[in-house]
Amino acid sequence: MTGHGLDVVPAAGWADHVAGLLVDRLAARPDLVVCLPTGSTPLPVYERLPGALAARGVSAGRATIVLLDEFLGLPAGHRARCDVVLGRSVVDRVQPARFIAFDVDALEPAAACAAFEAEVAAVGGLDLVVLGLGRNGHIGMNEPGSAPDAPTRVIELAPSTREAAIGYGVDPPPTHGVTLGMAGILAASEIWLLATGTAKAGILTLTLDGPVSPNVPASVLRGHPGLRVIADDAARPSA
Ligand code: PGA
Repeated sequence: MTGHGLDVVPAAGWADHVAGLLVDRLAARPDLVVCLPTGSTPLPVYERLPGALAARGVSAGRATIVLLDEFLGLPAGHRARCDVVLGRSVVDRVQPARFIAFDVDALEPAAACAAFEAEVAAVGGLDLVVLGLGRNGHIGMNEPGSAPDAPTRVIELAPSTREAAIGYGVDPPPTHGVTLGMAGILAASEIWLLATGTAKAGILTLTLDGPVSPNVPASVLRGHPGLRVIADDAARPSA
């Protein structure tokens, strides 16, 4: 393992811990530009965030929230769409100044990626990217094989990602998505990699202690000086 921060927190307090860290960042920088993931891992954090903000008297009203990735082929408003999920779980609750997502309805996917990158650049780039850890080591939809310089782009989803989408209520699941690229993730000042539950312990161990390789895209984060890994004790990497 390299010199990044690794927080292992008891499962019962994990979500409050991460919500508290987000409030710290918003308190220090009210105009924070933060990219957030969907998936099941961060949902308990998002549930606690409004209360954690209120308890500390901190507002997200000047912040920009950026969506990490999006499925292709689902209609606007579909309940499994990432913009819908992040909208309901965070944006509606904390009312940031801006929500940057992928405009896959009005634009062709490649054009939606270009527009997304331009919008992120226009707000000064990402201060913080929060990531879930995929079962196959993906981050966002940067599936195994994604090089560190991979841009924001259209990507074919791996079988395990498609399977997970079935759990979100889409069957058959989408075959493709658009994602903030590896290069965009690595350009952020700070990266938090979240992992919870015993099902993530193996891939977290591989991420932190295996070879740094595009085969496990999350392993590439180890070269970033601002990486913080925040796991619960069930996902604790084995020694
Ligand atoms: P999960 O997904 O949070 O639902 O486990 C993580 C991911 O696949 O990115």
